[in-house]
Amino acid sequence: MAIRKIITYENDLLRKTSKVVTRFDESLFELLDDMKETLKKSDGVGLAAPQVGVLKRVFVISLNNYYLEVINPVLKKQSGTQKGQEGCLSVPNRSEEVVRPKTVTMEFVDRYNNPVTMTVSDFMARAFCHEFDHLNGILYIDLVK
Ligand code: CO
Repeated sequence: MAIRKIITYENDLLRKTSKVVTRFDESLFELLDDMKETLKKSDGVGLAAPQVGVLKRVFVISLNNYYLEVINPVLKKQSGTQKGQEGCLSVPNRSEEVVRPKTVTMEFVDRYNNPVTMTVSDFMARAFCHEFDHLNGILYIDLVK
């Protein structure tokens, strides 16, 4: 595993739309392992592949001592709203209040292409939406009113 360099605003790669993962091979496993290592070292909540300069629909989220791997996510359902402070490893030394859904349901696959459906609320819903946006070139600062 290796630590990858996290790119920061206003690097153009953060504004691109990432591509669907079609090959579940060693290079994907290496990317996921590196992203987990990078997230762990940077003490963040989540990290999306474009933040390490890889335009693939992949993100990892820290859940206690466990790292959830999310590949090819689709937002299936959302409800309610919540307001809260948000930051991003690619936008250092800044945090702003952002409105997000209170609850979201996402479908995605794991590294072996097994389907997963998860419904999450509150802090986790915020994290999922934030990372999901990265795959479409959206940064949380775009959502600040
Ligand atoms: Co971010």
